[in-house]
Amino acid sequence: MSNNTIQIFDTTLRDGEQVPGCKLDTKQKVLIAEQLDTLGVDIIEAGFPVSSPGDFKSVEAISKIVKNATVCGLTRSVENDIKVASQALRFAKRPRIHTGIGTSESHIKHKFKTTKEDILERAYAAVKYAKSFVEDVEFYAEDAGRTDNEYLARVCEVAIKAGATVLNIPDTTGYCLPSEYGAKIKYLKENVKGIEKAILSCHCHNDLGLATANSIEGVINGARQIECTINGIGERAGNTALEEVVMVLKQHPYLNLDTNVNTSMLYGMSQLVSDSMGIYTQPNKAIVGANAFAHSSGIHQDGVIKNRETYEIIDPKDVGVTESAIVLTARSGRAALAYRAKKVGYELTKLQLDDVYANFLTFADRKKEIDDNDIHQIIETSKVYQ
Ligand code: KIV
Ligand code: ZN
Repeated sequence: MSNNTIQIFDTTLRDGEQVPGCKLDTKQKVLIAEQLDTLGVDIIEAGFPVSSPGDFKSVEAISKIVKNATVCGLTRSVENDIKVASQALRFAKRPRIHTGIGTSESHIKHKFKTTKEDILERAYAAVKYAKSFVEDVEFYAEDAGRTDNEYLARVCEVAIKAGATVLNIPDTTGYCLPSEYGAKIKYLKENVKGIEKAILSCHCHNDLGLATANSIEGVINGARQIECTINGIGERAGNTALEEVVMVLKQHPYLNLDTNVNTSMLYGMSQLVSDSMGIYTQPNKAIVGANAFAHSSGIHQDGVIKNRETYEIIDPKDVGVTESAIVLTARSGRAALAYRAKKVGYELTKLQLDDVYANFLTFADRKKEIDDNDIHQIIETSKVYQ
């Protein structure tokens, strides 16, 4: 792995599946894991094995079929969680245990009702215990986004001493601003003793709509892994969207950061996850939404028909979308109508177009979107065609 290749850690099947009402069965999870492996993600977080017998079974089944990616299981800093995760992962070619504990004031005081020193001891013990089962141990400092940087650095040092090779810095509540999250990663890169033995990972939630921006700031400031989900699904407002961070890095080559993801599979992957979970993807969702490559206003349509790049920064084929859509509505212009008419077999002269366009506007004012059948009808009933 080049030092500029960002590891993509997909947690659709763990953090993503925490969406209420979207539980998947083992067969559905195995199918998604197979596709994620082909997509080229580096790590698949397959579940939280101790949480239920069903989740254990899914992690075990995924461990058996994944060929290339590391398969990861989540645990708390609890011995039994770690032991159970190691059993669920025993068939994986590349197993990883992801263990950790809350580190913010609020987690320490209210959730654990303990002290900062005790958290350091528990973190050390959990990583050490996980290391007795697998070589690859990732440590998460839950609510790192609201943990003070000095203490967070101490937590990271302890985890590295115990053998962690990945340090996950979650903005669990989606609170940080991009500048703040970036500065946190930079601080850890510069102040944690032994940091050269581990990589920093961004795990950002989207409560303020900043998950993608925060993850990108994280890697610009030295993190080398991003934790994300397909379509950005996850608890509350969700996680960082995989398709977004991958395309941000691809579309900004000067950052000199890339991923191993085959971007032409992104649209298909999005459909698979949304169909399996029964979660509708918002039409204006970046990269994979139904309108991400659709143009409906006359000015934009004219520009795109002349040259796609006028209003598109991504070639739709790069993400698996066949072509941009020119959608006909009452806001469309003559260029769009001529373009769509040609597609269904009519080569209109300027005079014919003027006449058909007048007919089209009357029709379009009554209907939200004009389809191919409507185009036939509009043209055949226009004066010049009679
Ligand atoms: O958001 C979070 O803090 C998490 C951890 C359990 C990794 O999902
Ligand atoms: Zn999370």
